[in-house]
Amino acid sequence: MTDITVKVIDHEGMESEWTAPTDMGLSLMEFLKGNDYDILATCGGMALCATCHVEVVDGFDKLNEPSGDEYAMLDTLPNITPTSRLACQLYLADNMHEIKVRLKGDGHS
Ligand code: FES
Repeated sequence: MTDITVKVIDHEGMESEWTAPTDMGLSLMEFLKGNDYDILATCGGMALCATCHVEVVDGFDKLNEPSGDEYAMLDTLPNITPTSRLACQLYLADNMHEIKVRLKGDGHS
């Protein structure tokens, strides 16, 4: 599969469905920023700023385990959910087909 479907709920609650490429080595954070979602990503994808925090609404079990760094960062967040992830640590791949995420990061002005 070279394209997957990703559903995104933005900070205003608007849901959109996107087709995302799996052959470009993009993280979900990079893909969302590229589609003009309001994510600051001040750390550049180093799991340090948490502005790319998402709640995985569908498909959480399909994702790879978070690294220790990602988990440690998530654990500092006041609005962590049981299915929270950092979008910069999720690389677009077949296992993410049809996941749905809700933007939770403090990226909007
Ligand atoms: S971009 Fe900073 S934690 Fe993901």
